[in-house]
Amino acid sequence: MGLPVADDAGTPAAAAPAVAAASAAAPAMKAPVPIPAAAAPEPVAPDSEWVARAKSRQKVPYWVMPLLIFLPVWLIMYVGTLEAPTREEGVIYEGGEIYVEAGCANCHGAAGAGGTGPAFAGGAIIDTFAQAEAQMAWVTHGSQGFTDAGIDVYGTNATQIGSYNGSAMPAFGADLTAEELIAVVFYERIELGGYGEDLALAELVWEQIESGEIELPEHFAEGPEGDFTGVGEIGDALALARAELAEEEIASE
Ligand code: HEC
Repeated sequence: MGLPVADDAGTPAAAAPAVAAASAAAPAMKAPVPIPAAAAPEPVAPDSEWVARAKSRQKVPYWVMPLLIFLPVWLIMYVGTLEAPTREEGVIYEGGEIYVEAGCANCHGAAGAGGTGPAFAGGAIIDTFAQAEAQMAWVTHGSQGFTDAGIDVYGTNATQIGSYNGSAMPAFGADLTAEELIAVVFYERIELGGYGEDLALAELVWEQIESGEIELPEHFAEGPEGDFTGVGEIGDALALARAELAEEEIASE
């Protein structure tokens, strides 16, 4: 700023002369009051060896620092693993793969909301098929298979064939293996239809298939004289699994 007296802080330079004047004037007025000697400070007991060491010790060793920085990241990752496992195997995962690969998603929608074919979402599929077996038979034969056999309705609620925009559901009995048929049907019921009640059954049957405990034919594809409500050996396997689950439930009560 260029002026000699006023620095930026302002006060010290300005206050100093006033203090000096006051102390110069004081002796003329009265004798200075003697300032009592400050009380001697209480002797401070020396720290014990342990306290002294604790005080002088560095609080966090340097090598711990990277660990502390990584800790929150690790925590987030760990908590992530505690959540419902992302399905990368098992009946629902396999079913989801087939649902896309076999083209079901093209007509019924990736999330089962419907399209060329009816919706599965919101439990609609459970209204149509109370049990998985009949749904498997339907997917095997398709609209044409039922019609050829002289049947004009499908499902527990006797849905008229061709009543959905007059479109037809293709037959998948020849394309899908028995395993794929099981997986895709349970996927539609549980994942898309939200029918969790079938999960234990689906997982048990899948486990039995994977372990070789039950053996299924390569395909379930019967002609016009065949079964339109059940699925032969697949149905037998499901019936056994249902019985097993019922026994477990009784045992746990
Ligand atoms: C070309 C389109 C198309 C494809 C592909 C298709 N569907 Fe369908 N689906 C339909 C139509 C149309 C209906 C209704 C049939 C009728 O009314 O006769 C239907 C009905 C159904 C139903 C009965 C639903 C209800 O509540 O009435 C099920 C279950 C089903 N499909 C499963 C499947 C599965 C599983 C796949 C794949 C493996 C599949 N669909 C592939 C068109 C398709």
